[in-house]
Amino acid sequence: MNNLQNKKILIGVSGSIAAYKIPELIRIFRKEGAEVKVVMTDLARLFVTPLVLQAISGYPVLENRNGMIVDNQEDCSIRHIDLGRWADLILLAPATADLLARMSIGMTNDLLTAICLAAESEKKIAIAPSMNKQMYQSKTTQKNISILKSRGMLIWGPCEGEQICGGFGLGRMIEPIQIVNLTSRLFQYDQDMKGIRIMVTAGPTQEKIDVMKFLSNYSSGKMGFAIAQASAERGAEVTLISGPVHLDTPPCVHRINVISALEMNEEVQKIIKKQDIFVGCAAVSDYRPKQFLSEEKIDSDLKNVQLTLTKNPDIIKNIGRMNSDRPYTIGFSAETRMENLISNSYIKKTNKNLDLICANNIALKNHGFHTEGNSLHLVWSKDKFEFIPYDHKIKISHQLLSKILPRYEEKSKHQNT
Ligand code: C5P
Repeated sequence: MNNLQNKKILIGVSGSIAAYKIPELIRIFRKEGAEVKVVMTDLARLFVTPLVLQAISGYPVLENRNGMIVDNQEDCSIRHIDLGRWADLILLAPATADLLARMSIGMTNDLLTAICLAAESEKKIAIAPSMNKQMYQSKTTQKNISILKSRGMLIWGPCEGEQICGGFGLGRMIEPIQIVNLTSRLFQYDQDMKGIRIMVTAGPTQEKIDVMKFLSNYSSGKMGFAIAQASAERGAEVTLISGPVHLDTPPCVHRINVISALEMNEEVQKIIKKQDIFVGCAAVSDYRPKQFLSEEKIDSDLKNVQLTLTKNPDIIKNIGRMNSDRPYTIGFSAETRMENLISNSYIKKTNKNLDLICANNIALKNHGFHTEGNSLHLVWSKDKFEFIPYDHKIKISHQLLSKILPRYEEKSKHQNT
């Protein structure tokens, strides 16, 4: 489990009976080579003492007491900022229903929630809930969990088991060894994209016809989300601009939701000059209705309705043609016929002035929009392409990034000399 060597883990303990398992959790983390610091909520002290956690972690434990932040250090550092910066992972274990609720609305009424809010846009946050089964299943807690997931936080557990309040159900914190295994998996990739800013577009766009109808396509967003996730796993600063999809935001990814191609273009343009790499994975509608036809539903009895279409901006083409601050630019090309896959994709690559185009045949079984897997042909030039064989989209994304990075670095070296 060498992935944990020298990793810095900040554990936030809140007031649940499962807090008695945290000394064991810290012991395993340290055995694996991780450094651990602990922050406690007021109530957590009723379940496990700061002294025990301090002895096992080897660091002073930070806690609130009557609204004051208490530790034994005398420097004047800003605790809620510094601790978040220090951590490679913030792990809330055990996390009570109260902590989830406060986190979901961004409260900062104690040190732990202040650390999380300050760190959430940049750091991995994992949460191991622990509570009574009815509290866990309540609509309120479920809603809070889905809000936290949508902000890129990881929810680990809970699991089923005997409850301290009697009975059996879903609400127990997962075991320390499971938490350590999940953490180890989080750190399995080299941080070879640290310092790189990457923007990914994903999903379809919707182009309004009237208040009820739109033009769109079947894109699920899964490929773009996987690329965003893989980039974040390798330490990149990721902005994901997504059309309407039903997917959770990957951890540590900054997501901007849009509906139409015009909106996607606008959001891309706002920060494209700050990006090092751009991946256009979105299935952008090429056309949109020329006018929004009606504030009301178009009458279904009408015999003839004329829908005039106008061209949408080609988002990636505008990026490919940028004169200054142009990011390394990668496009996707969904094709339905194998014979034309490479040639059509190469034409697009040239027209749009891309560094790479990734061609996939969406007509193949288990390929394309709604599937979990894919295979890709990377078209670098007219007669140079590479094949990434069928695999899960997240694995395909990692392979793709491993192919892109050396070329991106080579190109930036030339630009800087
Ligand atoms: O739709 P097409 O096959 O031309 O898409 C090729 C590439 O161009 C994709 O990367 C897609 O995200 C991008 N594209 C775009 N704006 C459009 C159409 C396509 O950025 N209006």
